[in-house]
Amino acid sequence: MNETRPQETLANLLSETRQFEPPADLAAAANVKADAYDEAKADRLAFWAKQAGRLDWDTPWDRVLDWDNPPFAKWFVGGKLNVAHNCLDRHVEAGNGDRVAIHWEGEPGDTRTITYAQMLTQVKKAANALTELGVRAGDRVAIYMPMIPETAMAMLACARIGATHSVVFGGFSVDALSGRINDAQAKVVITADGGYRRGKPNALKPTVDDSVPLCPSVEKVIVVRRTGQDIAWGDKDVWWHDVVDAADKEHEAQPFDAEHPLYILYTSGTTAKPKGILHTSGGYLTQVAYTHQAVFDLKPESDVFWCGADIGWVTGHSYIVYGPLANGATQLMYEGTPDTPHKGRYWELIDKYKVTILYTAPTAIRTFMRWGDDIPAKFDLSSLRILGSVGEPINPEAWMWYREHIGHNKTPVVDTWWQTETGAIMVSPLPGVTSTTPGSAQHGLPGIDADVVDDQGNSVPNGGGGYLVLREPWPSMLRTVWGDDQRYIDTYWSRFAGMYFAGDGAKRDDDGNIWLLGRVDDVMLVSGHNISTTEVESALVSHPAVAEAAVVGATDPVTGQAIVAFPILRGGAEGDENLLAELREHVGKTLGAIAKPRQIMVVPELPKTRSGKIMRRLLRDVAENRSLGDVTTLQDSAVMQLISEGMANTKNQDD
Ligand code: WT7
Repeated sequence: MNETRPQETLANLLSETRQFEPPADLAAAANVKADAYDEAKADRLAFWAKQAGRLDWDTPWDRVLDWDNPPFAKWFVGGKLNVAHNCLDRHVEAGNGDRVAIHWEGEPGDTRTITYAQMLTQVKKAANALTELGVRAGDRVAIYMPMIPETAMAMLACARIGATHSVVFGGFSVDALSGRINDAQAKVVITADGGYRRGKPNALKPTVDDSVPLCPSVEKVIVVRRTGQDIAWGDKDVWWHDVVDAADKEHEAQPFDAEHPLYILYTSGTTAKPKGILHTSGGYLTQVAYTHQAVFDLKPESDVFWCGADIGWVTGHSYIVYGPLANGATQLMYEGTPDTPHKGRYWELIDKYKVTILYTAPTAIRTFMRWGDDIPAKFDLSSLRILGSVGEPINPEAWMWYREHIGHNKTPVVDTWWQTETGAIMVSPLPGVTSTTPGSAQHGLPGIDADVVDDQGNSVPNGGGGYLVLREPWPSMLRTVWGDDQRYIDTYWSRFAGMYFAGDGAKRDDDGNIWLLGRVDDVMLVSGHNISTTEVESALVSHPAVAEAAVVGATDPVTGQAIVAFPILRGGAEGDENLLAELREHVGKTLGAIAKPRQIMVVPELPKTRSGKIMRRLLRDVAENRSLGDVTTLQDSAVMQLISEGMANTKNQDD
């Protein structure tokens, strides 16, 4: 147990001593070795220039980085390339046209196998179809789709003709979709009748139908037939299979400037209007390709990669579409949810397709833990060689479970920190180099200058807590907030002079490893100590009875704020007074008395965004609404009532 220091920016309470060396065979054959850190340190820009050399450029750049007008960066200035050519044509030209790009599995169990050559033909046709519908370089196209191969094809068709796509997650409502279409002034919307989710067709087209009248910029709606469900048909609607099948199968990709806008992806804060995060072409593709090859040690000839995220999130953009395809990888794409038709679906798919690399989120891992060890144990998972995590801090116990029950203690676990704004992985172990520490994202990747600083912007020493910042620009960084340069400056570059501030709390452990401690907005101020939600949650999850937990700070007359915890118990147990007392003691023993929850309310579920992040704001409302003496609540229906009312009111928000 560490002692908390007064004046600290963020307390460092949890200590972790477990460590795992990279497997010797993986280390020996690793794509990236330890010298990459030295190389990048010696000359960061030369390092990134070398990584850009992985791509095909029509015109070479004359300057690696223009940072003359920060925070507005230009990477690979003067260079020209076509992103879709780099993801498809060049692999076919190199003789790999017959390699499988996508093994697709629909939720009902229907399958498609798509080679690089087939993917290229479809993307060329779709590019011609978009051109015939009047889409030109620089125009915006909104994409509102299920998890089907046409979603990736639509994105690449846009990239091929220089149109900027804006993918909107298929779970969003009319308000969210129409707001995003209008902000970007999209000319065309690409959608589908629906997709399968939880065993049923889930309609998408009605949301588009209700949005289009609110969006005067929209000229055409292209509709993929996926489910065959009944849909209404308007005069702007055309079928994908009509316009794409009829289109010419030849299409020559034109080069675009390295800084040509590739896509906009919206992130919504808790209250404010969503920000259109703008990514451009050359730097973005360079860093997603590099990180996909380095962090997952990708061997394109033999690996089967599976990223379980939805294409509607940045994880899907960078590690389903652009990174894997730029690297000529073979991947699995799955349409549905992990519990349909049964809770072993993920493991069944890994077994069936002999997946070697799995990339998923802590929220999924904790859910799998809760469902029970016996479920993955029924399947052959021996093909797996690397496991990745992204999206939230991963609790050390969830990390250990992932390593043990999915990786059978032989696969490295890489916890990767990044954001929609960073475009690609920034802080992560390298599987063939790093001795991994459960729960820590460890180090900035080669070429990335990540640091933890205090309130004044000074680096904290080992053992100290503070804010995660990036001290140098990186190739896949956002270039601005679409249409709002001032908001870009204010949101990301104003808290600390000359540094990008990501909004996350972090600490450095005694070995110098970086730990992410959650959003700074969630930090709890208890008796003058800034305590991270992540550390208290991890302490709770390290108790064998707890599967998952969220904690928040609630107003307290004595301590300023007090910690209120919402655990989910393993096997759906309800807990009793004794267990709750034991949990408080357990947190006290693990982190110190300062971190003991004042109240614990056992819940059957936690409120989450569609991307799986816990909505602590809602839990804070619940915590503030409970009377002080009210300790146990045992699957309290009143608590769940408050949570679900809150969820209903925030339907349009993702994170
Ligand atoms: C926020 C960004 C990056 C793709 C998915 C989320 C949190 C992300 C980690 C991690 C701790 C993490 C941060 C970050 N986050 N990865 N490995 N450890 N926290 O993208 O929706 O833009 O969210 O997710 O709070 O700022 P996003």
